[in-house]
This record gives sequence, structure tokens and C-alpha cells, in this order.
Amino acid sequence: MSDPVHESERFKPPASRRDFLGLAAAWSAIGAFVMAMLGAARLPMPSVFPESDSRAKLGRPKQFATGSATYFPQQRLWLFRDAEGFHAISSVCTHLGCIAERLEDGQFNCPCHGSKFDASGRVMGGPAPKGLVWLELSVSPEGWLVADTLKETEPGTVLSA
Ligand code: FES
Repeated sequence: MSDPVHESERFKPPASRRDFLGLAAAWSAIGAFVMAMLGAARLPMPSVFPESDSRAKLGRPKQFATGSATYFPQQRLWLFRDAEGFHAISSVCTHLGCIAERLEDGQFNCPCHGSKFDASGRVMGGPAPKGLVWLELSVSPEGWLVADTLKETEPGTVLSA
């Protein structure tokens, strides 16, 4: 004898625990895959745009007297003005990144492991593999002296302003 209720299209037997766990596992796997793909798609986009704050206005050129050496702690650089013009030297030690101190005689000394640099940043001793970095300087259209802390320039490069 047939049972019209159970043969009806609208009748669905209750889901078993096994069915429920299987569906939960499948949806979890799909969710994890989608999240992983979203994360992978995001990888080529940088989280930080270093160019955006690598340039710093140091001041108007006339603010700096000939023969001056001015330290900018936020940019971790020394700005020098001599008869030929301006140059900037990073105070970040090329060994492991400590801040090298400038001594009275103009040389630099790294307090961390004892690297020593001459007044133009050349290595004189210690574990530093290369000299202190000279940074690119420019004058903005508005007349500001600008240093770019991410752009190295050849030691000896001077900006006349
Ligand atoms: S970090 Fe400067 S000598 Fe090591």
C-alpha cells in the first residue's frame, strides 16, 4: 500500500547528522578557499606606500649657513652646507641600522658595534659593510630644500642652491 505523504514531492526526510556535518565541512572548505583567494589577490598591492613620506622638507636654503651641519632626527639625516652647496648623509649605520653619532671632529661613530665613518661617511673601521648613505636632495618648485630618505645618491654629489 502506498503512502501518499512520503511519496509527495514536498516531503523531505529530516537531515541526518552525517549529512549536516558533511555540508558544514564543504561550506567551511569553500569559505577558506574564497578567503585564501582574496588574500592572494591582495598580495601584489603594497600595504605601505614608502614614496609617500620619504620626501621631507628640510627648510629654505637660506636658513642654513655655509659651514653648517644640521641634524634632522625624524629623517635620521645630517644636512651639510659648504661653499659648494648642500649634501645630506643618513645617520643610519649600514651594519644593522643603529643611529651613528656625529662626533666633534665630524666623524661618525656607531654605538652598537663600533663602526667608524669619516666625515663624508666612508667606513674607517668596524663591521659596517659600506659607508653611510648620501641622500638625494632637491629644491621644490616652492623653494624648499627637500631630502628623499629612500633615494641614495653618489657620495660627493652636491646640490648647489
Ligand atoms: S649597527 Fe652600527 S656597527 Fe652594528
